[in-house]
Amino acid sequence: MFDLTGKVAVVTGASSGLGAQMAEGLAEAGADVAILARRIDRLESLKEKITAMGRKCEAYACDVSSEEDICKAISSVEKDFGTIDIMVNNAGVVISGASHEYSSENWDKVMAVNSRAVFLASREAVKVMLKHNYGKIINIASVAGLAGGPQSASYNASKASVINLTRGLATEYAKNNITVNAIAPGMFATEMTEGIMGTVDDSAAGRTPMGRIGRSGELNGALIYLASDASSYTTGQTIAVDGGWISLL
Ligand SMILES: NC(=O)c1ccc[n+]([C@@H]2O[C@H](COP(=O)([O-])OP(=O)(O)OC[C@H]3O[C@@H](n4cnc5c(N)ncnc54)[C@H](OP(=O)(O)O)[C@@H]3O)[C@@H](O)[C@H]2O)c1
Repeated sequence: MFDLTGKVAVVTGASSGLGAQMAEGLAEAGADVAILARRIDRLESLKEKITAMGRKCEAYACDVSSEEDICKAISSVEKDFGTIDIMVNNAGVVISGASHEYSSENWDKVMAVNSRAVFLASREAVKVMLKHNYGKIINIASVAGLAGGPQSASYNASKASVINLTRGLATEYAKNNITVNAIAPGMFATEMTEGIMGTVDDSAAGRTPMGRIGRSGELNGALIYLASDASSYTTGQTIAVDGGWISLL
């Protein structure tokens, strides 16, 4: 049920953090993996690791804020792998700042990567999935899309948009055997959070009912469920993988 042997997965933002961990997790479950990001050197080392696991892996330089880059990368993946079964929209950025001083340029940058790119990459992947009447789209949202926080308005808005984009696409393609779900991670130590971990680490762990932040690879259980036939009747859902964070009043 959870086996991904013979499936082709695409992961955006696979050059570090959660994206790299999820690409490895998909390969461990049997999938061949196409990895996308701007830092191609990082992707090449991950490619070596995944290839050594006996899976096919190709790296694609792709800035997801560019529609042209997304279209080019997805079309190359289809050419190189023959299909796309699983699309993981993970690339993301955070630009924090007081809202009364926040520039429209920063708002647009966050929205371009966290929201618009999720739609565009899904659109391109769905074109391929429709040919095979099969697909699993998994969008990486955040607990910050389910609740708010100070100095994070653009991030909160972008991640909330991912959650409802997930529902919209899920209803649109349910009859085509394409499921669309999201994962809302709590706090994990990655490049994105390292700038704030110094101050947030203790309070984040303390605020989390489980008393700790997420460990490397802890998204992979939810990911493999949503990427595999185990989730054949699940669509439009957002699974929080957050140690209980979002359930706390
Ligand atoms: N860490 C957490 O606690 C946490 C919690 C909730 C949600 N998330 C979400 O999880 C996802 C992964 O974040 P992370 O924590 O793993 O952060 P990270 O280590 O900073 O990774 C972000 C990834 O996104 C890629 N990316 C950023 N801008 C891009 C662009 N314009 N084009 C292509 N790729 C781009 C980066 O690759 P390049 O720089 O090489 O392009 C990198 O691989 C994000 O969507 C984030 O919002 C993280």
